[in-house]
Amino acid sequence: MTKPIQTVRVELGPRSYNIEIGIGNLAEVGPLLTDLGPVSHAVVVTDTNVERPHAVAVAESLAGEDLAVDLVAMEPGEPTKSIDMAMSLWEGLVELGADRKTVIVAVGGGVVGDLAGFVAATFARGVRFLQVPTSLLAQVDSSVGGKVGINLPQAKNMVGAFLQPVGVLVDAATLATLPEREYRSGLAEVVKYGVILDAVLFDQLEANAAGLLARQDDLLIDVIAQCCRLKADIVRRDEHETTGLRAVLNYGHTFGHAVETLSGYGELLHGEAVAMGMVCATRLAERLGRIGPDVTRRQRDLLAVLGLPIELPPLDPDQVFQAMQRDKKSQHGRLHFVLPDRLGHVALVSDLAPADVRAVLGE
Ligand SMILES: NC(=O)c1ccc[n+]([C@@H]2O[C@H](COP(=O)([O-])OP(=O)(O)OC[C@H]3O[C@@H](n4cnc5c(N)ncnc54)[C@H](O)[C@@H]3O)[C@@H](O)[C@H]2O)c1
Ligand SMILES: [Zn+2]
Repeated sequence: MTKPIQTVRVELGPRSYNIEIGIGNLAEVGPLLTDLGPVSHAVVVTDTNVERPHAVAVAESLAGEDLAVDLVAMEPGEPTKSIDMAMSLWEGLVELGADRKTVIVAVGGGVVGDLAGFVAATFARGVRFLQVPTSLLAQVDSSVGGKVGINLPQAKNMVGAFLQPVGVLVDAATLATLPEREYRSGLAEVVKYGVILDAVLFDQLEANAAGLLARQDDLLIDVIAQCCRLKADIVRRDEHETTGLRAVLNYGHTFGHAVETLSGYGELLHGEAVAMGMVCATRLAERLGRIGPDVTRRQRDLLAVLGLPIELPPLDPDQVFQAMQRDKKSQHGRLHFVLPDRLGHVALVSDLAPADVRAVLGE
């Protein structure tokens, strides 16, 4: 039986690349990489949750291609996206004899992809890197589009670069080992794509919620491919986030980041905070008369069916509001929101009255 596979092209001129999405296709990483150009050395960067079996399978596939292969496994978790870990990888690369022909292969979630990509962007003024995302969030979002970076102690993702990977290989079978809460958190970003860009995808998610929760192979491949296609199209038109178009991907994130920060470190997963943020965003859009209550309800119901939180934790609305003003994406304290005007379509709304924003936090 031939296994289902989908290819999504990210069209960026000389920086174009393919996203290959399949099931049980980790063994194809080696041939895929050697097809992309001459390579003599690959360094697999992963974390210790993903190392076995996934990163080891990738390393074996690469070794089968007559390459020198090294594997570096880091501590899992957001604190790994730090300058200290970047330093240890830079130094590690020197020790491994890496040079400009080395390819870095990131196997893991968004933390591994962002850090390994940042190291690839900076080591020897830039080496090639390949993404093998293994969390749902990374498969539908962070591995596509070339944003790489690390956190500062006081601000997430504050230091980084744009570096497109030479390719992305998604093996949806790797999700079998992803913890349930992480998986559901990734589904929040999937719902986000439906709300901001594609009402048909939203309908499909509503109709197939049970299959999604059961991680059905065919459904996963189809949904991941659609999300990658939507993101690829945005990235193609606004690679460096200069026109404002790429900002639509921040839907739910202005509220979400504030809630994430105020809830205390590590309390909420990113997708959980984004789910709450999307609920606030529809409430705000409804309050401003941009949408009817049906959009708010359908989004809330879908998030709830997918096991995502739809109620804000008990936080002081004033504090949430202040945290939003401090957000990196606010401009000099002025708040901009991505708000839907119907399912599948959003617009950037600027200079809202603080009273409206506070009101939806207190609901
Ligand atoms: N670059 C971008 O465009 C972009 C976009 C969105 C998010 N991000 C970043 O992505 C990060 C979040 O990504 P994430 O949610 O993947 O977090 P993560 O990388 O921390 O992964 C979540 C957890 O799942 C584990 N894991 C991953 N794949 C697994 C698997 N197949 N089996 C078992 N365990 C597995 C990890 O070890 C970790 O414990 C954040 O740092 C965020 O800033 C970047
Ligand atoms: Zn997000």
